Amino acid sequence: MFDFSKNPSDLKLLSQYVAEACCIHLGEDKRYLFEARLGKIIAESGALDIPAFIRMAKAEHTGKLRDKIIDSMTTHETYWFRDTRPWESLENTILPELGKLLQTGKKSRIRILSAACSSGQEPYSIALILHKLKTSGLLNGVNISSFEITGFDISPGTLFLASAGRYSQLEISRGLPDYWKNNFFDSTPGNTWTLKPEIRSMVTFKKRNLQDDFMSLGVFDLVLCRNVAIYFEEDFKKDLFSRLGQIIAPNGLLMLGGTESLLTHKHLFAAENISGSYFYRRN
Ligand SMILES: C[S@@+](CC[C@H](N)C(=O)[O-])C[C@H]1O[C@@H](n2cnc3c(N)ncnc32)[C@H](O)[C@@H]1O
Repeated sequence: MFDFSKNPSDLKLLSQYVAEACCIHLGEDKRYLFEARLGKIIAESGALDIPAFIRMAKAEHTGKLRDKIIDSMTTHETYWFRDTRPWESLENTILPELGKLLQTGKKSRIRILSAACSSGQEPYSIALILHKLKTSGLLNGVNISSFEITGFDISPGTLFLASAGRYSQLEISRGLPDYWKNNFFDSTPGNTWTLKPEIRSMVTFKKRNLQDDFMSLGVFDLVLCRNVAIYFEEDFKKDLFSRLGQIIAPNGLLMLGGTESLLTHKHLFAAENISGSYFYRRN
């Protein structure tokens, strides 16, 4: 295990590198995180010291070392239908209303983005609800493929898990009612559960950094950006929500985490209580 207490300037260099790579600012009070999460990676890299390790990460053209650092320093906590209440608003109001736009021919497709989607539970929760709405007849006349769901994350490790749609016993038990587990997952080797292809195929995953320009992603009717901005500094948060505003259609919605709110950007978004939960409507 690395011990940064002897050389605080090494910790500062690593902290700067992580902040540049993914905008997550971990101060010196998070020394234990760097030690616990990066110690093995540093040792395996063969670098003789931290400046050499960072030079190696910057120079490596495959980006593999950089990805490993990002994978290990980002927090991937997520679960199905996280926070429950806003998902009820999605199921009862928002997604049926978006469906109506398709049914009435006002739109030919509905685009939904889960920004910083971790291992996929968030965009798949949307896909599961859409499937339920279709089965219950609320999306009659709508081809489910008219809903285009994209999930992105910076972490290749979590994106790999997301694309596989395969979850451990613990992951499957977090927030997922039995109805979904019994109907949309197959029991797979290693005590895992794998989402059925019909749900998996509803979501496309991409590797993207929240620092990137989003314009190439196109315009979305609903954007989820949940439980990630809490790790960012104020200036970056402001910039992030301005850039998200650019890719949300007029009248489109932004959904934040259960404990998050957007007090800036009143020129772009209006807070709206939809069936008991707050969403942010693009002006
Ligand atoms: C705590 S999880 C939240 C997952 C999900 N949105 C939810 O609310 O359950 C945060 C995710 O943000 C991703 N992340 C952190 N910094 C990022 C960045 N700069 N660009 C894209 N994704 C990032 C992490 O890899 C992680 O998967």
